[in-house]
Amino acid sequence: MIVILNNKCNLNKDEFKAYLKDISEIKTKIDLVLCPNFLNISEFKSDKIILGSQNVSAQNSGAFTGEISANILKSYNVKYCLVGHSERRKYQQENYHEINQKIKKLLESNITPILCIGETKEERDSKKYKEVIKEQLLSAIKDLSLENQKKIIIAYEPVWSIGTGLIPTNNQIEEIFSYIKSYIMTNKILYGGSVNETNVDTLKKINLIDGYLLGTLSLQEK
Ligand code: PGA
Repeated sequence: MIVILNNKCNLNKDEFKAYLKDISEIKTKIDLVLCPNFLNISEFKSDKIILGSQNVSAQNSGAFTGEISANILKSYNVKYCLVGHSERRKYQQENYHEINQKIKKLLESNITPILCIGETKEERDSKKYKEVIKEQLLSAIKDLSLENQKKIIIAYEPVWSIGTGLIPTNNQIEEIFSYIKSYIMTNKILYGGSVNETNVDTLKKINLIDGYLLGTLSLQEK
């Protein structure tokens, strides 16, 4: 079981130090991966929690002002990195090609990509959700060897569920997880979107879930 904590654009330096101290006290056997903002990555110290990143450049190191390459993340001991989060697809217009490039750069640096995929409410309502998921998945793994595909973790996060308090039914999640598994030989599939202390008991009944991606809950007092 793996749980990813996505801090998003939150926590200034002092807040992060207090937060890190707080979550370092959590006693758990699961792999806890913390994805702070880029600046807080350099403030990270923990022998219990694993370091992740929320983003990476699609370029190698070089003349790309404002970018952070996989090679730089590697030097900070980053082990996992989110790719294609719906907020980046929406607000930074991250496209299929960039997402595919980012995954390749991460794999070259031995950082595990966590590919986020999921449909909008309109896509679900118009029954196009499977097509969308297939397109997001196949474009992201384009030109990757089977061996590399297996290294990617997939996070299914329906856009309509992120930060809204709404979650799909277990049947809906199971349908998508099986569908994903028919296209990619990934080791792990996570669920993300409005996971909280209450609904996690229902989600736990789904055997196919290998872990969770938490946004809002990652920032709550433990
Ligand atoms: P949420 O966010 O838990 O606040 O819905 C999840 C995410 O965006 O990864």
